[in-house]
Amino acid sequence: MRILVTGANGQLGKDLVKILEDTHEVYGCDRHALDITSTVQCKNVINKVNPDVVIHTAAYTAVDLAETEEDEAYKVNVFGTRNLTAAAEELGAKFCYISTDYVFDGNASKPYKEYDDTNPQSIYGKTKRAGEQLVQSLSSKYFIVRTSWVFGIHGTNFVKMMLNLSKERDTLKVVNDQIGSPTYTVDLSRFIAQLVETESYGIYHATNSGTCSWYDFACAIFEESGISIDIQPCLTEDFPRPAPRPKYSVMDHLSIRANGFEDLRNWREALRDFMRELKG
Ligand SMILES: NC(=O)c1ccc[n+]([C@@H]2O[C@H](COP(=O)([O-])OP(=O)(O)OC[C@H]3O[C@@H](n4cnc5c(N)ncnc54)[C@H](OP(=O)(O)O)[C@@H]3O)[C@@H](O)[C@H]2O)c1
Repeated sequence: MRILVTGANGQLGKDLVKILEDTHEVYGCDRHALDITSTVQCKNVINKVNPDVVIHTAAYTAVDLAETEEDEAYKVNVFGTRNLTAAAEELGAKFCYISTDYVFDGNASKPYKEYDDTNPQSIYGKTKRAGEQLVQSLSSKYFIVRTSWVFGIHGTNFVKMMLNLSKERDTLKVVNDQIGSPTYTVDLSRFIAQLVETESYGIYHATNSGTCSWYDFACAIFEESGISIDIQPCLTEDFPRPAPRPKYSVMDHLSIRANGFEDLRNWREALRDFMRELKG
């Protein structure tokens, strides 16, 4: 298949392009090759490549900054997504949109299912949900893949941040009252690669299996890397941030099970592989 990937220079996009290249003809577009906020560029590039599938990973991802840069966040995540979806639909291409656990409010006490009501609390979450809605109304062949707590070799993420902080400090405080599921870019990319080959359209929750708090995640990172450091659990209120975070963003993988896909492995096993990848 011919696959166009947006955000090819991002944390997920880079790994996704690499994995897809093994079996497909891939056109990875970074912002320079395809600025998704330009309707004309979206049409021109998509028409020129004439892809069977568009995988849309590009996004305005600065969650806190989005609270003050609302227009820019909407421009990229909502109208950029609209531009791509409309151009892909004109060619009859499948459309795969990467979305987020931030579409939920985090007040649940059991895992969110794919078709549960959304209620985003942050500007970022609202823009990603609005992007989903445009994909759902403009594409006749869509996959929406919601993921969370992503880590990979490219870009910045929680794992790298913890490892860097441990070089500067002897003690760390990490939030223990937000629960979610970490997700390794390599595992997510492999799932997306399988998914887009099918016609099993719809919404998917795709994270590594299992759940933890940021504090548990940090403990695991230091255990896996053999670093000894004093880590203290703390509360969300101890680290006030501009954008609210969902307290509980665990997502059930109902669509993965019901459509016969193999579930993503446990996050701890994925973390172990990532640490190996980091060491080179
Ligand atoms: N990271 C997470 O924990 C997480 C969790 C849930 C969902 N997601 C979703 O997963 C997807 C991938 O995230 P990620 O972690 O790979 O993010 P990322 O590293 O920030 O990558 C996003 C990419 O989008 C590009 N981009 C931004 N504005 C653009 C524009 N106008 N035109 C074209 N490209 C543009 C950025 O380009 P520049 O490099 O030039 O800025 C960047 O390379 C996103 O859709 C995100 O919402 C991420």
